[in-house]
Amino acid sequence: MIQSTVAELFEKEIKHIDIEVKGWVKSFRANRFIALSDGSTIKTIQCVVDFETMDETLLKQITTGAALQIQGNLVESQGKGQTLEIQVSNIAVLGAADPDLVSKTILQPKRHSLEFLREQAHLRPRTNTFGAVMRLRSSLSFAIHQYFHQNGFNYMHAPIITGSDAEGAGEMFRITTLDPKNPPLTQNGDVDYSKDFFGKETNLTVSGQLEAETYAMALGKVYTFGPTFRAENSNTSRHLAEFWMIEPEVAFMDLEGNMDLAENLLKSVIDYILEHNLEDLTFLAQRLEQEEKSKPQNERSEMGLIEKLKFVADNNFKRVSYTEAIDILRNCKPNKKKKFKFLINQWGVDLQSEHERYLVEKHFKCPVILFDYPANIKAFYMRLNEDGKTVRAMDILFPGIGEIVGGSQREERLEVLKEKMAALGIPEDELWWYLDLRTYGTAVHSGFGLGFERLVMFATGMGNIRDVIPYPRTPHNAEF
Ligand code: 4AD
Ligand code: MG
Repeated sequence: MIQSTVAELFEKEIKHIDIEVKGWVKSFRANRFIALSDGSTIKTIQCVVDFETMDETLLKQITTGAALQIQGNLVESQGKGQTLEIQVSNIAVLGAADPDLVSKTILQPKRHSLEFLREQAHLRPRTNTFGAVMRLRSSLSFAIHQYFHQNGFNYMHAPIITGSDAEGAGEMFRITTLDPKNPPLTQNGDVDYSKDFFGKETNLTVSGQLEAETYAMALGKVYTFGPTFRAENSNTSRHLAEFWMIEPEVAFMDLEGNMDLAENLLKSVIDYILEHNLEDLTFLAQRLEQEEKSKPQNERSEMGLIEKLKFVADNNFKRVSYTEAIDILRNCKPNKKKKFKFLINQWGVDLQSEHERYLVEKHFKCPVILFDYPANIKAFYMRLNEDGKTVRAMDILFPGIGEIVGGSQREERLEVLKEKMAALGIPEDELWWYLDLRTYGTAVHSGFGLGFERLVMFATGMGNIRDVIPYPRTPHNAEF
């Protein structure tokens, strides 16, 4: 008896051998054909039972959702729609699933809305769509680690509890063990955080960048890949309160090198899934094609999912300065005809997602790297250009997604950094260790953050970020 996953059965095609598989019933037809799924592949294995010789009570328990152990011979299938099947010699029901209860869940084999699937997020990985998305998510994460490993990076674990606000946006979740009903107070009546667990105010991290910089200035090339938390109250299809971010940081690398690194990383991981996950991608591509059909003609995407992935992997990203982008946007049709919600009328404004999407989807029709943004719309740590008003920042914008990467060359000059912190009211004593980097062997260095869920959205064609992470955390939602 050879124990096997469904994926292995199809890969190895070991025929006429006693095999054993375990999985869940997707469907059971004509009291004879079980479609069994074990999550190892989007495929199910057809298991053919001889109901005449089967125990009736056992037969009744073979219902959608039940967990089974199946033994039998693997043979070439005579039927349509599959190449292999198992001629069952023995079945054990490991866990039954009451059909009346199943009928109330998303396990019931029919089309369910993505919203309904979210309500049963604990069961949705058993659907074809979520199985495919989650296998791709896993594969992408492996491809990312592999890329960095092959390119001499060290994986660094940045702390999740921090005392600093790396992005300076004040969108942090506080960590405290103080009693909310009766916190210790200072003489001014403020909460006295010196009595808190860490003896100071602490939060969940919004970015591991500042800590990663300290390690880049020792190990040369590092990256983090971990959860990050943002208490921004934006209920969009692209924002989560808890998301995963990949943050490489490299000593002696300038902005140019940073753009090259980000572009290469993205292309490399897309190549990886095109090579290793084609079955799931093909399924998701068909799913997307169906979805597109329900849209009005002018809103349909010109490329299918796989074409789009190949296009990104094979073509150079367009590199454009913020100033050039503003010129394009100022003179474009939707701006002149006042179709944008936020009209672009002067240099210095922050770009909204409608502008980013116009540049990527309408103007350049390819991924775009925007660089050299105005200093006052970007974070304090970005390196000031000689013009005194722009910083060495870069954002990568993807079709259908908008911003997928945000990064910069870092300010390595102690005095300039101190001036910027002072101007923004960031106390030096909070970031004394960060300033120390500029005292002991400072050097040009750069890095970026890649939003992992935005990458998974792009790779799977899913339109809502809540559908590419197992348990999405969004305002008013932390179920499961
Ligand atoms: O542009 P951001 O805020 O950059 C940073 O955090 C830098 N410290 C990164 C660095 O230079 N090391 O975030 C980086 C990326 C964004 O481009 C986006 O893809 C993703 O993180 N992101 C989010 N993804 C999901 N939900 C949110 N609320 C996100 N906020 C940012
Ligand atoms: Mg950003």
